[in-house]
Amino acid sequence: MKQSEYLKILSLSKRTLEEYLNWGETEIAKMPIDKIISTEESAKILSPKKQSESVLSPKEKIETLKRIIDSCKECSLGNSRLNAVIGVGSPTADLMFVGEGPGFDEDHKGEPFVGKAGQLLTKIIEAMGYTRENVYITNIVKCHPMIDPTNPEKRSNDRPPTPLEMETCKHYLDEQIEIIKPKIIVALGASSAKSLLYSEESISKIRGIVKEYKGIKLMPTYHPAALLRNPSLKKFVWDDMKIVMHYLDTGKI
Ligand code: URA
Repeated sequence: MKQSEYLKILSLSKRTLEEYLNWGETEIAKMPIDKIISTEESAKILSPKKQSESVLSPKEKIETLKRIIDSCKECSLGNSRLNAVIGVGSPTADLMFVGEGPGFDEDHKGEPFVGKAGQLLTKIIEAMGYTRENVYITNIVKCHPMIDPTNPEKRSNDRPPTPLEMETCKHYLDEQIEIIKPKIIVALGASSAKSLLYSEESISKIRGIVKEYKGIKLMPTYHPAALLRNPSLKKFVWDDMKIVMHYLDTGKI
C-alpha cells in the first residue's frame, strides 16, 4: 500500500474516533473497532485502480472527502477556521481552478472565491463559456490562514499560507484531482503555482507556460486579487485562458 493510502486511512480513522468522542463515547474498548481501523468508507475512497469494487460516484467521493476535511485538524488552521472550504463545482469537471487559501468571506460562507477576487474569477470563468457549477474551484489550503487566529471576525486578517501548511494540506487537493480527473488545472497566483510546481520562479516568469502536475496539464496565471490591484494584468490572464480554452476544445496546446 502506498504511503498516501495509509495516510488516508489514518485520517479517516482519526475522524471516526473524533466522531465517537463527539457522541460522548469515552472508552475506545466500546467503539466498534472494525469501523475505527478500516471503515468501509476508507476502502471506498482508495484508488479505484486498486479497489475495483469501489462503487462510489465522483460526487459521493467528494462528499466523503468533504466530511473528512470538515473535521481535519492536521495543522493549526483547523483550530481557528469557521468553516473548512473544500471546493465548489462539478465533481467531473474538465477544468479546475486552484487558488491559495480561503479569506474572510470564504471562511464565513464555506465556499471558495466568493469575495471580490472571487467575483472577478466568476467573470473570467463565464467569459470562457463556463459557470461556477461546471468547473471545479478549490484552494491549496482548505482553511483560512489568519494573522491573528483568535479573531476570525476581523476583516483584513488574512495572510498567505506557510509552506508547511500548504504541504500538510496538499494531499486533500491530490485526492480531489484524483477523483475529479480534470483535463487541465489553472493555478491562480504565486502560492498555488509554487506549491504545485515546486518552483521558486516568480509568477510573471512562469505564467502562460503550460506545465504538468501529476500528468495533468497545468496553466499558471495571475491571481484575480492581483488583477484587482493592477488591472493591466488582465490581458495576460485572458491570453492564458485562451490557451486553456483551446486545449479544452482541441486537446492540443
Ligand atoms: N483567494 C484565494 O486564493 N482563494 C479564495 O478562495 C479566495 C481568495
